Amino acid sequence: TRSPAILPSLLACDLAKLADEANRVAPTSEDYVHLDVMDGHFVPNLSWGAPVIKCLKPHSKAFFDVHLMVSEPAKWVKDMAEAGANMFTFHIEVMKDEQETRSLIQAIKAANMKCGIAVKPKTAVSTVFPFVDDLDLVLVMTVEPGFGGQAFMADMMPKVEELREKFPNLDVEVDGGIGPNNIDECAKAGANWIVAGSSVFKAKNPQEVIVSMKRSIEK
Ligand code: DX5
Ligand code: ZN
Repeated sequence: TRSPAILPSLLACDLAKLADEANRVAPTSEDYVHLDVMDGHFVPNLSWGAPVIKCLKPHSKAFFDVHLMVSEPAKWVKDMAEAGANMFTFHIEVMKDEQETRSLIQAIKAANMKCGIAVKPKTAVSTVFPFVDDLDLVLVMTVEPGFGGQAFMADMMPKVEELREKFPNLDVEVDGGIGPNNIDECAKAGANWIVAGSSVFKAKNPQEVIVSMKRSIEK
């Protein structure tokens, strides 16, 4: 079942004040934060792993949407579950075959997390179709993963439209370069989970940006 959500990406916040920043943009249990895990291998950047997420958890009531940009997601299922991840989203590009993907989905669910699969801009969205029945979410990247603050790729919208058309009840997430000026385009294509990093944290009033973006997906 579909639920509209704006997910501020903490990658863009002041990391020295992680808990304060999370509570500033996602104060209640109805709110979400997007946590980008990068391993310097699948993507050319490092961020943080389960230890940081685990430290943040007791300070936040928000839903933890964890986006794993890592080469070996299966290695981190147990640690992420113990850290308090609510959604575990891995990239289809690192899976060697369908069997590996299926068993990873099972492991994530057995650890009581929701499960999502992400696709990079150059990856066909059809690669996730065989798994959708077992997934909570598909994440369509609208930038090359690895860094915040990049330009939105509007040419990813056909992927969102195709997912929405084929799977009306699926939560479809978009991530990268999104803000108040292009959220309508994402929502119109059918995305209902919208990640926003720079547009939220570089704003004078982050809460205001979130509220105005929420209005866009609820209408
Ligand atoms: C990029 C990350 C995104 C990033 C989005 O690799 O997956 O979640 O933080 O940041 P903005 O909204 O600034 O593109
Ligand atoms: Zn992300």
